[in-house]
Amino acid sequence: MNFPTKHLLQLSANIKMPDVVFRDKEKFYLFLIQAGMFISENSALRNLCSEMVSVNCPKVRSAGHDFTDIREDLKDFIENFNSLSQEVPDNCDRIYIDGCWDIMHSGHFNAIRQAKMLGKTLVVGIHSDEEIMRNKGMPVMNNEERVAMIKACKWVDETVENAPYSATSEWLDSVNCKYIAHGDDIAINCDGQDAYSILKSLGRFKVIKRTEGISTTSIVGKLLLMTKENKAAVSEPFVANDIVSQPTFLATTRRIFEFSNKNIKPKGQIVYVDGSFDLFHIGHVETLRKAKGLGDFLIVGVHDDQTVNFYKGSNYPIMNLYERVLNVLAIKYVDEVVIASPWIVTEDLLKSLNISLVVQGTISKLDPTVTQKRKQSLVYEDCQDPYEVPKRLGIYQEVPSERSIETKDIIQRIIDNRLKHLNKYSRSSKKEENYYTDIKTYIEEI
Ligand code: CTP
Repeated sequence: MNFPTKHLLQLSANIKMPDVVFRDKEKFYLFLIQAGMFISENSALRNLCSEMVSVNCPKVRSAGHDFTDIREDLKDFIENFNSLSQEVPDNCDRIYIDGCWDIMHSGHFNAIRQAKMLGKTLVVGIHSDEEIMRNKGMPVMNNEERVAMIKACKWVDETVENAPYSATSEWLDSVNCKYIAHGDDIAINCDGQDAYSILKSLGRFKVIKRTEGISTTSIVGKLLLMTKENKAAVSEPFVANDIVSQPTFLATTRRIFEFSNKNIKPKGQIVYVDGSFDLFHIGHVETLRKAKGLGDFLIVGVHDDQTVNFYKGSNYPIMNLYERVLNVLAIKYVDEVVIASPWIVTEDLLKSLNISLVVQGTISKLDPTVTQKRKQSLVYEDCQDPYEVPKRLGIYQEVPSERSIETKDIIQRIIDNRLKHLNKYSRSSKKEENYYTDIKTYIEEI
């Protein structure tokens, strides 16, 4: 139903009726409230009015004006509204969500999942590098990398690149969606305004629960801490907020259930691939795609935090086990995940899961530089090949990792542009702190 909001907006500029002239928006909203009160049988108009009032006009809400003298005009207006709204195609089932989607994480995937639940078809807008730079600051992942992650997500039906940071009703119409969905935080654009204020005032905005304790900002904060040791050439004081005190991501069983592929049973040739899948990126997704292509059912083993830390050292992993599990589950090539999978692929594991093929990318979890470092450490006992059994059984296969991107490359990007990322981090982390202390209220997760 495109008509009502568009038409009402046109009217709001300067409505002439026999007895009243609406010169400003506030008066127009007053009129709408009255219309909504009179016409209880028109639920579309009633909802529109109450949405407009609740998002836009706290002042108007308490004004309590009496418009009984314009009842007849209201009747005409509503008749007109009813007849025109019937001609409008119903695109309520097409939902739009947009974002930077920089360093994809489980909060992004959970937002996309919830948005999909609001309708039948989900259209995801992706801002360009330039648009992100203008409104938020430098992204870590480039456009191609960010787009690939969205395209691989199982809840995404359509994608739109070069999406504007501040979507307008014309933009929503152009992608044939009635509503835009966004987390309950406020997205501020380069003019210092709420990027969605117009759509909120038009009742075309749906709030979804923002996932606590995870954000690109907090990930970049952790990476900045890790790059401290490499910042010899950079002399600024480190001003990052205390990351440890931020809210924790809550790995509820419901979240894991909602992300999982319900009612799917293993069938045909079962392929297994394992790893840490930390700082989830296009390289991981490409390998998952190729692994799935080698069979019918893909099981992904995700190692626990202690195991990853033992083999990779330093502050790894950046994302915890459950965040990494949800990321992997959001990808359309993945059928099943083993949470905290063993480092070594044993004969028992192969039997338990009926695995026919074990796959690794050529950039594998056995990073030679890391293994070398570990060998020098006291706790490193052996460097047994974790794939010795599948190799011996002739069921091990490597697929070329087409993207030369690894977790350490992402860290290198932060090092290369440390000051820019530091400035962006300082701004965003203040905004995030403000969200948790002042804005956040309970919102039910869909
Ligand atoms: N989002 C969410 N939960 C998070 C982080 C993001 O629900 N923990 C939602 C946002 O509310 C938005 C969408 O994901 O609807 C895309 O967000 P994006 O534009 O990528 O940026 P931010 O909201 O700033 O998220 P981040 O700090 O992680 O970049």
